[in-house]
Amino acid sequence: ENRTFTMLKPDAVEKGHIGGILEQINASGFRIVAMKLTQMTKHDAETFYAVHNERPFFGELVEFMTRGPIVAAVLEKENAVEDFRTLIGATNPAEAAEGTIRKKFATSVGENAVHGSDSEENAAIEAAFHFSGREMF
Ligand code: GTP
Ligand code: MG
Repeated sequence: ENRTFTMLKPDAVEKGHIGGILEQINASGFRIVAMKLTQMTKHDAETFYAVHNERPFFGELVEFMTRGPIVAAVLEKENAVEDFRTLIGATNPAEAAEGTIRKKFATSVGENAVHGSDSEENAAIEAAFHFSGREMF
């Protein structure tokens, strides 16, 4: 079993898609081991996305990710990181496969409904960014 970290982004929360997305996550065999509704500060988003700070969309990304609450969660499953990225689909929903979470719930390449960690190492870093040890089960 390994773990991945996800956020249901502000666009998904605003549109009332928390339930629909969590249902698909559960149906795909992921166990929720940590979860909360929270809002990132500008400093949080700049830190979380520091790897993208040279990209032209960085300002837009920080603005978007801080504009409202998100659902942060840690998910457990065999092969969690890779399987979750398959479940969410391509970054740009226009290119996401049929049936994926981004295909169903995302709006655009920026407002793409969900985050999924890109490696086990980053999953652990991102989980620790949002949760204390006592909040993970
Ligand atoms: P995450 O799971 O959120 O990390 O997405 P990803 O791994 O599929 O994409 P990546 O890490 O390359 O980009 C991180 C996030 O930046 C994306 O999910 C988008 O929200 C945002 N992003 C990426 N490319 C663009 C872009 O061209 N324009 C805008 N506005 N946002 C972008
Ligand atoms: Mg990424």
